[in-house]
Amino acid sequence: MGLLSGKTALITGAARGIGKAIALKFASEGANIAFTDLVIDENGKATEAELLALGVKAKGYASNAAMFGETEELVKKVHEDFGSIDILVNNAGITKDGLMMRMTETQWDAVIAVNLKSAFNFIHACTPIMVRQKSGSIINMASVVGVHGNAGQSNYAASKAGLIALAKSIGQEVGSRGIRANAIAPGFIDTAMTQALPDNIRAEWIKKIPLRRGGTVEDIANVATFLASDMSSYVTGQVIQVDGGMNM
Ligand code: NAI
Repeated sequence: MGLLSGKTALITGAARGIGKAIALKFASEGANIAFTDLVIDENGKATEAELLALGVKAKGYASNAAMFGETEELVKKVHEDFGSIDILVNNAGITKDGLMMRMTETQWDAVIAVNLKSAFNFIHACTPIMVRQKSGSIINMASVVGVHGNAGQSNYAASKAGLIALAKSIGQEVGSRGIRANAIAPGFIDTAMTQALPDNIRAEWIKKIPLRRGGTVEDIANVATFLASDMSSYVTGQVIQVDGGMNM
């Protein structure tokens, strides 16, 4: 019996990266996994195969999380296919960095739509199902920059701060219905994005981290598993920074 046996998790943007690591960890704890990404290409198919190999039910769905109507249809389909939605992880995210004075409206709108509106879309569609089930765990993937801000990332930081406030608000609205909502704020995580940084910039970042290393996708997946499971049954409206102590 795993920590998540018998539960269904819906994870957005999980063909690769942090979302994929969360999907694999949840599956290893017994959860059935519905995951989305913009397209289900070789990456998505490989993720689906790795999940199935863990002996759970798993399916990847092509969907743009930023689209309201598309998300409603998708959530209906997932519910039909899996029979319940117990855990929702709003993980899909993009960056379009730039200093405010050079930032275009397109950069601003794209990041808010993919990072923040997507979470509204999914929470709006999944909450009625969770209310009927009288239980659910919602996890928004924020970022330390959503707590502390970051020059050159005003759009991204604002979207991530929005995800934190969204978790706290929905946590207050539906706590009495047995639904919890929390946010994870990862710091410097070793993914394709951060591995592409020049060595000297990476070294500068690592120097600021008391634990003296970048985080792994598994570090994030472990905290997500805690928040998804009954181990955190008295935890709601919280933001957990998983950043090696970079911001205390
Ligand atoms: P990633 O770029 O490897 O994965 C994000 C996934 O989301 C991709 O598969 C992408 O295709 C998908 N996606 C993008 N737009 C989408 C849309 N409109 N609809 C559906 N799927 C879409 O990124 P990573 O590093 O795995 O990040 C995952 C989450 O963690 C993001 O929300 C990111 O902001 C957050 N995060 C990442 C950190 C890091 O150091 N990598 C640090 C803090 C937060």
